[in-house]
Amino acid sequence: MNVLVVGSGGREHAIAWAAARSPRTSRLFVAPGNPGCPGERVALDVEDVDGIVRFATGNAVGLVIVGPESSLAAGLVDALTAAGIAAFGPTQAAAELEWSKAYTRAFCDRHGIAGPRSTVVSSVGEAAAWLDVTGLAVVAKADGLAAGKGVIIPDGRDATLAAVTELLGGSVGAAGHRVVLEERLAGEEVSLLAFCDGRTVVAMPPAQDHKRLGEGDRGPNTGGMGAYAPAPCCPPELVDELVRTVLQPTVDAMAAEGRPYRGVLYAGLMLTADGPRLLEFNCRFGDPETQVLLPLLDADLVDIALACVHGTLADVPVAWHKQSAVTVVLAAPGYPASPTTGAPIHGLDAMPADTLVFHAGTAARDGGGDGGSLVTSGGRVLAVTALGDDLVDARQRAYDGVAAITFEGRQVRRDI
Ligand code: AMP
Ligand code: GLY
Repeated sequence: MNVLVVGSGGREHAIAWAAARSPRTSRLFVAPGNPGCPGERVALDVEDVDGIVRFATGNAVGLVIVGPESSLAAGLVDALTAAGIAAFGPTQAAAELEWSKAYTRAFCDRHGIAGPRSTVVSSVGEAAAWLDVTGLAVVAKADGLAAGKGVIIPDGRDATLAAVTELLGGSVGAAGHRVVLEERLAGEEVSLLAFCDGRTVVAMPPAQDHKRLGEGDRGPNTGGMGAYAPAPCCPPELVDELVRTVLQPTVDAMAAEGRPYRGVLYAGLMLTADGPRLLEFNCRFGDPETQVLLPLLDADLVDIALACVHGTLADVPVAWHKQSAVTVVLAAPGYPASPTTGAPIHGLDAMPADTLVFHAGTAARDGGGDGGSLVTSGGRVLAVTALGDDLVDARQRAYDGVAAITFEGRQVRRDI
């Protein structure tokens, strides 16, 4: 079967790597992919719905795996499905769980899924009134998709109102036309992702992302500087509880509300002193969580993806290696505010044998073929993954891999 992976980051490199290992995959395409991805690259934008449908139809693609949320919000899965092509990911309507935080808060309230206290405001006055009544320390979030830039954690009432003003004023574009204010919670964060076929939910090992740029979780928020799985803060009993109280009820309610949920459902949770609380849903694989989860998968991703599309996930074995995985992101200087690009990358040809390197912001020098030397071309440049018998072992191996790679101004957290 011909398989097309949509996207260009480290997450999509990991998806393409897993799809390439499937005996069911004959030709593998990535649109637009990056120089590290296996398969044939196709120069299509991830939101070019018509272009992707035309390409998939013309190249006998039997399965499309959609990486980014922007493609889902643009209706790519709906259009592919209408064209008779199996597409792994939720429809535009089901993906509202990610593209509208206001929708998700209302959904969780309707269905008793525990989250922070929250409200949705469209003016600074409404925000001020709610703050005065509740007296809460809050987090301000743009309602819509903002590529990770829509969440502000302000200190105090004035800073909160300034954040609301900024978001409503267009700092992240139309995504900020409404702002969700949430009670600020404290606790360990865990990413629990699951395969879903509209009815059945199969959880992946719990993963932990590291969002802050600096060691000790300091500095600005980033797209994620590293991750590991399984996360010790979320033992198997807690995974079962979270499936029972968050993921399964969500999939059941989405079906009951006429938006059956297929694809990956990603719950971003905080483990507070009062119990687990849902911070957000994402409707796709996480980045960089995918770079640890798919190497741990001891099953065929293409089989699983097709079963999710066809509603037969309960019939497919989904096994995981009994190991731990760590991924460490190598970022460009200036990331996340204003990354500098164009630096030559050295050492990729001399990696330790047991490490995996997933590309994100890399480009072939001089725009030449993929075989030549590489330069940095984005904020997050590479992610180095290793498996080990436990997290300590996996971490050591991942950092051995990181040590082999150099480029000017490389930013790496030493404490993943
Ligand atoms: P999100 O994009 O919703 O995952 O938010 C980005 C980050 O902001 C999360 O990973 C948390 O670290 C933090 N965050 C989001 N919501 C809350 C909350 N209600 N309380 C405390 N921290 C939060
Ligand atoms: N790791 C965070 C995300 O993928 O949204």
